[in-house]
Amino acid sequence: MSKPSELQTNPADFSGVDVYAVAGNPIAHSKSPTIHRRFAEQTAQAMHYGTVMPELDAFATVAKAFFAAGGKGMNVTVPFKLDAQALADVLTPRAALAGAVNTLWQHDGVLHGDNTDGAGLVRDLRAQGIALTNTSICILGAGGAARGVLGPLLEQKPQSIVIANRSIDKAHDLQRVFQALADTHGVLITVCPVDALGSQPSHAEIDLIINATAAGLNNDSPISDAIAKRILRPTAFAYDMVYGKITHFMQQAINQGCRVSDGLGMLVEQAADAFLLWRGSSLATQLDARVVLDELRQELAAKAP
Ligand code: ATR
Repeated sequence: MSKPSELQTNPADFSGVDVYAVAGNPIAHSKSPTIHRRFAEQTAQAMHYGTVMPELDAFATVAKAFFAAGGKGMNVTVPFKLDAQALADVLTPRAALAGAVNTLWQHDGVLHGDNTDGAGLVRDLRAQGIALTNTSICILGAGGAARGVLGPLLEQKPQSIVIANRSIDKAHDLQRVFQALADTHGVLITVCPVDALGSQPSHAEIDLIINATAAGLNNDSPISDAIAKRILRPTAFAYDMVYGKITHFMQQAINQGCRVSDGLGMLVEQAADAFLLWRGSSLATQLDARVVLDELRQELAAKAP
């Protein structure tokens, strides 16, 4: 069991500056400190942003200690987004729908939780010139990553979203969670076993396909080459939430002539949203997430073998 004394970023050690941290396990390779330090430079904010790595069963203890010691805000990553949701006193509507929290802050003794992942994805897609309204979207996966982005995607009023997952039950569960929001925005939401993609005429009209499965981490793809050939038109855009490499899924889409993107832009944009929540939305005019994204890309390219 972790003790609060295991905090690696103790706000008490940084008097005079506001202290933020990202919590995850593991956390050493997180890009969040670099991203937030660059945002702080761009907007001239005196702040420290570090990391904390709670033991797997100790997120609540560590987070409570961080805020009790004066911490201003915390980002939360794998595997603690559900713990963060449980810990927050108040959730934003999008965090409640996402079923997970990636951004925490304390105001008047009340711990607030939000989820900026979906907004980050939508902003990254927009920055890459991808239209969402009236389009046909396919989401691969029905886990936390898919759930985290479905709300903001639905708010963009696409014509349809098909949730394709290996286990159809989880896709149905997600459909149930988001049906009311889909109805509100007039979006047709359907589900499909991932192996049955391409079996319906509408699957040949997909404009945007998003890989929200964990397959990319193992250099695997959730779809077979045969399905990729069937459903990926050259005009489609393929997005993988994994970042830092051309995944198997991205390569399948490239082979079909599609434009592709990894998820690094989503990472930077969700961080920008969190930064503005903490430091004030008026800083939006000074903050340039795309500049930080370009710098990160250059760093990653320099480290590539
Ligand atoms: P996360 O919170 O990152 O989304 P998760 O809740 O474990 O993680 O969900 C992982 C998702 O990736 C699920 O949709 C999973 O499919 P199942 O629901 O059928 O398990 C999907 N997934 C993981 N590895 C996959 C693979 N090799 N091929 C296809 N889908 C995969």
